[in-house]
Amino acid sequence: MCGIIACRTREPAIGYLLTALGRLEYRGYDSVGVAVRTTGGDIARLRTVGRIGTLEHRFRQWAGPVLDGAGIGHTRWATHGPVTEANAHPHNDCPGRISVVHNGTIENADRLRDVLRAQGHRFTSTVDSEVLSHLIEDASQTTPDLCEAVRQALDAVEGSWALAVLERGSGRIVVAADGSPLIVAHTARGDFAASDIAAIADWVEEFQVLDDGEVIDLSAAHRSVDEDRPSPTMVRCIWHSADTDLNGYADHMAKEIDEQPAVAARVIDELGGGVADGSLWTGLGLDRFDRLQVIACGTSLNAGMVIGNTLHQLAGLPVTRCVASEAGMDVPEPGTLCLAISQSGETADVLNAVSARVAERCPILAVTNSSHSTLARRADGVVSCSAGPEIGVAATKTFVCQIIAGVAVTVSALAATGRISRSHAAALVDDLRRLPDQLAAAATVAKSVVPPLADEFLEATGFIFISRGAGLPYAAEGALKLKELTYRWAEHYPAGELKHGPLALVGDGTPVVVVDNGDPRLATNIAEVQARGGRIVRIGSIGSSVPVIDDALGPWGPIQSAVAVQVLARTTALALGRDVDKPRNLAKSVTVQ
Ligand code: F6R
Repeated sequence: MCGIIACRTREPAIGYLLTALGRLEYRGYDSVGVAVRTTGGDIARLRTVGRIGTLEHRFRQWAGPVLDGAGIGHTRWATHGPVTEANAHPHNDCPGRISVVHNGTIENADRLRDVLRAQGHRFTSTVDSEVLSHLIEDASQTTPDLCEAVRQALDAVEGSWALAVLERGSGRIVVAADGSPLIVAHTARGDFAASDIAAIADWVEEFQVLDDGEVIDLSAAHRSVDEDRPSPTMVRCIWHSADTDLNGYADHMAKEIDEQPAVAARVIDELGGGVADGSLWTGLGLDRFDRLQVIACGTSLNAGMVIGNTLHQLAGLPVTRCVASEAGMDVPEPGTLCLAISQSGETADVLNAVSARVAERCPILAVTNSSHSTLARRADGVVSCSAGPEIGVAATKTFVCQIIAGVAVTVSALAATGRISRSHAAALVDDLRRLPDQLAAAATVAKSVVPPLADEFLEATGFIFISRGAGLPYAAEGALKLKELTYRWAEHYPAGELKHGPLALVGDGTPVVVVDNGDPRLATNIAEVQARGGRIVRIGSIGSSVPVIDDALGPWGPIQSAVAVQVLARTTALALGRDVDKPRNLAKSVTVQ
């Protein structure tokens, strides 16, 4: 959610900035901008509404002063203020002496703006981030060192930030983070800072993650050693830009759907060996638990409910579902393990919920796709879902990998604490090992039978997804995928709930997608829909409209249906002319509350 990049490189910075911004675009694509030092020491700033392509085009035609190797860039997901060029980052101070890019939220921006305006500062945008430029300008009057001025300015700020500040003349760049992710890497090509390793992976072998409250000079030449802080832990970069190439696919979503069997196999290989003997669980060093609270948002919450259902079905333990943005409404009971699930590990709602649980002394187990993320660092135990980079804004392969990783650690915990036998756990691992083939078969079937259905539904204004029991999180995921990609209404309900209200929505031809978990009562619910003219699409076993599910389901329910709902959402969205990788109004890694 907003991506930032900063670099001081031996070669011109602009090439690095544009490449990195292209890779950060999944974090927001409302506007994009850069500020680059010229060889004469000025700052050239270029901003455009929309996507990186427009900015690239303007640089291809650049006839301004020669640009050198220091620059900052930003790709925006609008929060404060409309999508305009004036609101695009970087934001300057009054004399244009510094430029700032920021990811996060300044909670006391209104008050700070009033004070700064009264002091004579001129604002040119309506975004909260611009107060940072003027605060730093103010601090620089008394504190000429940029690093110190940034530190001083941030003392007045409430909220969260990852920011980079470029200074005219010196070309110094200072970066800082608190509550928003920022990584820093020093390489043979130069020094980099970015919101996400994916932006700079090609140029970096290892990197450090900034701690909350850290302010550092990006250039090694200027870096002062803060004796109060331990030397940074370096993380090896295991990502490559090739992992994010389309490799002949039309879009990242198509590629990521197809990657699911392979990444599922990888997670099972990584974790499967520690399940039956309980070592995956005992290795985490967490206490025995008597109940589980799942904390997550969106697709990750759906994955969490699959994991919770599995635990409940196997051991009868109580499971609660906590929508992270509403975590204040729940107080976990003693003996609760909090399972925090987040692909990015940077979702602000999840991090806030986790902080509250830490204060309540609740142990946190994180399942995340980013083992250096803030969530991973805050949790008491971490299990990686190892899905690899997911570029499509709509989660696909991470959903499947979160389920497998979460189920693996849950079953391991049950085996380690004697709640299920080791032989039962071993049988479940065997079932998990069958998943890659099942997912591959589901993709083949779905891709052949879903397109005609999608064509049939182009005029449909709304969709209903129903299921029961272990199928419900998959119905929820189907509705979420469909609405975020097609911009059509899609809701999910427990099938038994239809008659208590939602059935009023069903008329002639209303699409009702049934995720068939094998519950015989679904037949009655299907009949109720058909009697009102509804159009049933059943994702189930042989004989269904989308026959992707085997008869024998694991306790995690009809996971193959995930592939079918992904294909349905993507195919319908494409037929409607939508951008399936970058749905409107959305972004990945939601770092605002
Ligand atoms: C939907 C989707 C979102 C995310 C949600 C949580 O396709 O991707 O609903 O699942 O924003 O994100 P993470 O998992 O990064 O915490």
